[in-house]
Amino acid sequence: MIEKTDSKRLISLADKLYKNTSLSPEEYKELIDNRNDEISQYLFSKAREIRHKYYGNKVYIRGLIEFTNFCKNDCLYCGIRRSNHNAQRYRLSEEDILSCCKEGYGLGFRTFVLQGGEDPYFSDERICSIVKKIKEAFPNCAVTLSIGEKSRESYESYFKAGADRFLLRHETADRCHYGKLHPKELSLENRMRCLKDLKSIGFQTGTGFMVGSPFQTTDCLVKDMMFLKELQPEMVGIGPFIPHNDTPFRDKPQGSCELTLFMLGLIRLTLPKALIPATTALGTIEKDGREKGILSGANVVMPNLSPMSVRKKYLLYNNKIATGEESAQSISLLRQSLENIGYEAVVSKGDYPKD
Ligand code: 5AD
Repeated sequence: MIEKTDSKRLISLADKLYKNTSLSPEEYKELIDNRNDEISQYLFSKAREIRHKYYGNKVYIRGLIEFTNFCKNDCLYCGIRRSNHNAQRYRLSEEDILSCCKEGYGLGFRTFVLQGGEDPYFSDERICSIVKKIKEAFPNCAVTLSIGEKSRESYESYFKAGADRFLLRHETADRCHYGKLHPKELSLENRMRCLKDLKSIGFQTGTGFMVGSPFQTTDCLVKDMMFLKELQPEMVGIGPFIPHNDTPFRDKPQGSCELTLFMLGLIRLTLPKALIPATTALGTIEKDGREKGILSGANVVMPNLSPMSVRKKYLLYNNKIATGEESAQSISLLRQSLENIGYEAVVSKGDYPKD
């Protein structure tokens, strides 16, 4: 008979993770597979404790600018995949992007995240020009790029132009699972090559994955944890998978808020100093999803700064929230709801802590 892991055992595993910042694959698996409300609450309290040690009750805010939804890739989960002919494609001009930054600066943002599909129109030259102009106009701000897989040389040119950070989720650290989520032109090897290049060039590097993506098993999540531990990214973004009607995964079930929060707690204990956003996807599937993310160990929120006219077009998944509290323009509502749970949204670049 298989014995069910009892509470005492689960608590001791969480304590071990808190103390050592790592577990064996078997131990991560045991925690994930046997989790219950009691261990989750314990994990979250430990996650808050360690986050408090490095960040106090501060929450960093990042202004997200979704500057193009053209994409040459065809990822099976993503609403802006190449073969979605229902997507209304758009690109922001350099001028548009700079005016988003200007508005964001006035609202208290000191990091601008430029996110887009892999759009060949935005050559390295164009990206570098945009980065330079933002850094010139806002020298006390960080620029984060989230524009996909590029060559090492391209990444080096962005860094030289002044970009500070780069986000590139690995999506899943299991090769076979990676193959089920992506077209055959994309490989986990190249994704990992990109992440290693980004780290070694000197970017504060972010990676992450979707929770509950089609075909994901606990073993995939365990591999994700082992991969994070090895890579030591400065930032980790995770959110629930949410189906999009115009993709092959339209009928696949949505990932759960509960498991996403549990994984956030595990990530906080594994990478104590990481910058971890409570993502838009989490806020989309549950009211208060983002607050719950903060209470599970996240310390960043990324409100949307894109122009209102394009906001509904950057649809990675169904029902993506766009105008409520996740909107940069409603930052005062967001500040208030963070205050209500004991946190403070700060005006700060919010770099990864040095030592
Ligand atoms: N559901 C949830 N997250 C998604 N992403 C893309 N499509 C979806 C979806 N259907 C996430 C991916 C990507 C990030 C920008 O958005 O993880 O890296």
